[in-house]
Amino acid sequence: MELNANNGEGIDSWKEVTLIYSAALRQVETKMQILNDEFQHVHQYNPIEHIKARIKTPESIVKKLKRSGYESTIDNMVKYVNDIAGIRIICSFTSDIFRIATMIGEQRDIKVITVKDYITFPKTSGYKSYHMIVTVPVYLSDRTVETKVEIQIRTVAMDFWASLEHKIHYKFEGDAPEHIRSELVECAKLVSDLDARMLSLNNEISELSQVRDEIPAADSK
Ligand code: GTP
Ligand code: MG
Repeated sequence: MELNANNGEGIDSWKEVTLIYSAALRQVETKMQILNDEFQHVHQYNPIEHIKARIKTPESIVKKLKRSGYESTIDNMVKYVNDIAGIRIICSFTSDIFRIATMIGEQRDIKVITVKDYITFPKTSGYKSYHMIVTVPVYLSDRTVETKVEIQIRTVAMDFWASLEHKIHYKFEGDAPEHIRSELVECAKLVSDLDARMLSLNNEISELSQVRDEIPAADSK
């Protein structure tokens, strides 16, 4: 995927990278909090359970560049490392994931660069999550820098699975024994099943409370 050619322009030191990407991260985080607050106001319901935001460490940026065969320059970081700024949005239900992704896509100053829907198409490992690479404008005193942010959206259950899988992956340096890998795939199925059942339970509860809300209104006539 060809990335915005303007990215990288005018960023010429690690300090500036940190400044600009932290600003982009804060903007996306605030946008998410605003959407969550509005949702609470309109629907009396919070689609977002919590948000984690992080800036990639210089060591892991350099490692990633090396792995892809690029020299460690600021230009290459900005051009080729899409997750210098990363935000993870944890929701209760699978339906919230798509709702949030749509709301992100509809924001006028957010440009969606790529989407990877590992919810509809999970990885063979069992990994599920909705990934977006977006850019947001960071307004500096003399210029505007369109800055990339990686957004990962997943349910609490998917996050639980991904954290353990990540730990195992790290521990075995990507070469976990077969029985552990197949156990993880099994657990991923349980996670999907749990998410589906919790969603259907929640839908049933919502319908019930709607009916209940309608009864007193009808009675009061
Ligand atoms: P990198 O893996 O970051 O080099 O990017 P990519 O081009 O492979 O993109 P992808 O969207 O597939 O993954 C981006 C990020 O998602 C990773 O850095 C991880 O944080 C997370 N991720 C992707 N696949 C897995 C997985 O199988 N298990 C876990 N735990 N996390 C994953
Ligand atoms: Mg990453």
